[in-house]
Amino acid sequence: MKKLTIAIDGHASTGKSSIAKELAVSLGYTYINSGSMYRAVTLYAVENNLMDLIDNNIDQFINLLNNNKIHFKFNKNLISEIFLNDRNIENEIKSLKVSQKVSVVAAIPKIRKEMVKLQRNIDRNKGIVMDGRDIGSVVFPDADLKLFLTASPEVRAKRRYNEMVDSGEKVEFHEVLENITYRDNLDSTRKDSPLIIQKDAVVIDNSFLSIEDQLLKISSLIKEKLNN
Ligand code: CDP
Repeated sequence: MKKLTIAIDGHASTGKSSIAKELAVSLGYTYINSGSMYRAVTLYAVENNLMDLIDNNIDQFINLLNNNKIHFKFNKNLISEIFLNDRNIENEIKSLKVSQKVSVVAAIPKIRKEMVKLQRNIDRNKGIVMDGRDIGSVVFPDADLKLFLTASPEVRAKRRYNEMVDSGEKVEFHEVLENITYRDNLDSTRKDSPLIIQKDAVVIDNSFLSIEDQLLKISSLIKEKLNN
């Protein structure tokens, strides 16, 4: 059967990764969360006090970064999890500390170039679902299906806040909401690979849609693509 490349872009905390994971598992495709790669770079910079170096000498930072390995491994449920060298950083990258810096780091062209290289090196032959901000526009402009997810900032902040509290992080709702609107603004206005709605993308506002509703809609789009 034909194997598709599915690109899911959209605003912060729109549930892209939950949808992408479900789709990848049901189709037997590879799932890659490109945001986790930018978060991994940010965690590395924050932990090693390298945020100033990013500002002052980006080439030196890239050299240091390239001595490390950002990669994915499959867990027992066949879901990819991100590693920095031998360390599973799947949970740490979701912290507010990382979320507050990631969009500044992700706006830097030389960092994007490195990440896009890694993303394009991933084997697409088995089918892939990748989520992020520039997947349909820059990483895989030839994607078979492009989705753009959005929802109201309040709904998104509530979902992310609940997720963070459940995972034991101490945060205030207003901090989460501010971070989401701050990231949307930076991601949409940066010069290199801004978040934009591609002409051939299907826009889904999931403010009032359950994951099941969205999967139903997307599954019928996938069927159409597979039958074409
Ligand atoms: O899951 P959430 O919507 O919070 O964000 P994410 O997908 O983990 O991405 C975190 C940040 O990484 C975004 O706010 C962007 O600044 C950046 N990003 C990007 O620039 N390009 C991508 N393809 C993916 C993420």
